[in-house]
Amino acid sequence: MPNDVSRRDLAKLAGLAAMGAAAGPAHAEEAAVTDDAGRRFPSDFVWGTATSSYQIEGGATADGRGPSIWDVFTHTPGKIEDGSTGDVACDHYDRYKHDVRLIKELGCRAYRFSIAWPRLFPDGGLTPNPKGLDFYSRLVDELLANGIEPYATLYHWDLPQALQDRVGGWRSAETAAAFAHYAGYVAQTLSDRVKTIFTINECGRFIPFGYGLGIDAPGLKLPQQEVNQARHHVALAHGLAVQAIRAKGRAGTRVGMAENITACLPAIDTPENIRAAEIATREMNAGFLNVILEGRYTDAFLAWSGKDAPTFTADELKTISTPVDFVGLNIYAPQAYVVASERAPGFDVLPMPSSFPHMSSPWLLVGPETAYWVPKLAAKIWNLKTIYITENGTSSDDKVTADGKVHDLDRVMYLRNYLAQLQRATSEGVPVKGYFLWSLMDNFEWVFGYKQRFGVYHVDFDTQLRTPKLSASYYRHVITRNAVSA
Ligand code: NOJ
Repeated sequence: MPNDVSRRDLAKLAGLAAMGAAAGPAHAEEAAVTDDAGRRFPSDFVWGTATSSYQIEGGATADGRGPSIWDVFTHTPGKIEDGSTGDVACDHYDRYKHDVRLIKELGCRAYRFSIAWPRLFPDGGLTPNPKGLDFYSRLVDELLANGIEPYATLYHWDLPQALQDRVGGWRSAETAAAFAHYAGYVAQTLSDRVKTIFTINECGRFIPFGYGLGIDAPGLKLPQQEVNQARHHVALAHGLAVQAIRAKGRAGTRVGMAENITACLPAIDTPENIRAAEIATREMNAGFLNVILEGRYTDAFLAWSGKDAPTFTADELKTISTPVDFVGLNIYAPQAYVVASERAPGFDVLPMPSSFPHMSSPWLLVGPETAYWVPKLAAKIWNLKTIYITENGTSSDDKVTADGKVHDLDRVMYLRNYLAQLQRATSEGVPVKGYFLWSLMDNFEWVFGYKQRFGVYHVDFDTQLRTPKLSASYYRHVITRNAVSA
């Protein structure tokens, strides 16, 4: 627009735009159809949504469920910002049938949920609680009856408190063995209907935050060597679980992990910086993803950790790197913009300006190209053939307005931009096979309690009323067209 446009011209232009909008739908539809041509996702792309047990279920003591570390943590004064707990959460334990309908109304053909370990093994031991299993069996039946494929996560942070008390939780390899037993049991009992299992969700969050910084359950502030050792035990648990699932599950059961990969992006996409981002992705994920996918801790990781490096055996590395069927990546904020460096191992991380834009959660910086670079680089580094985006989404300060609606335009903006970048990746052949929007509905957002809302359905936690937000319509629109317009 020329600089000398007068206020009157501007007013006129605004008026014309408004008229255009009024004449809208027909034009919009036409444009959308034209746009779609180049912006489609692969025809077999899996559209889903995701939740986790402690964040939505409630039913904290129902049917013999044992306490988890999150029950104990949330009931400790001062740990959760709004003083809340997951005792009731979205009461999904009682309302799961209704919630399955909500998933269906989005048009999703897949749902990623997590199983609460302490429902199945209340004391973290070897004796199962059939009533706990029964809940997930009913949920799975309900999903399948509605044409929705279940994707189950085994560990979304709710460790049986008994294991924390008995052996120190992830500080001990005994927890890894107990996890494998639990994984085998799930495979044995549910893999007739659940074909896809994620072992561990976000080791990169719950180990540093739970065992190093004391922010998440179990609230420990251990020295770095013990943090690294705990992470090693989680990697071992993952490998043992993959083996147990293969041994006990039906043929064709697929298994992998869902990790909040440290997202490293080229600051400017020159070939040198892209190479630097590749090196950074491998090194900054050396403690979990890389050891699983490559079977060794990188030299730089061991050198950098020094005396704090985990102790491990060659046999453990072999178990940890048992081949997986896919890799799940949780993608939210860009974490490191990098440039090439002469210094080994070959990258520098640029400082993040404080004015970098973020969503309603201050940690959630907006970098849509994260959804392009992260799967692209991961596929290249680890030669991956199947990737799922196991989480992506945003918080919003959305409110129910007088008309009973929730106009979460910021979430729609976020999703549109991230999905456009994801489509850019799939159109280049990056093997992303599916996308799970976080989250189906507002829920217990860990230390932030119920203050940060990530759902495409609004939840009134007093009445348990679910209200679809604008973003629910947006997501349904994307799924129906199997395409996104930028
Ligand atoms: C990742 C975690 O897996 C999930 O539990 C959490 O609610 C979302 N990020 C949003 O912070």
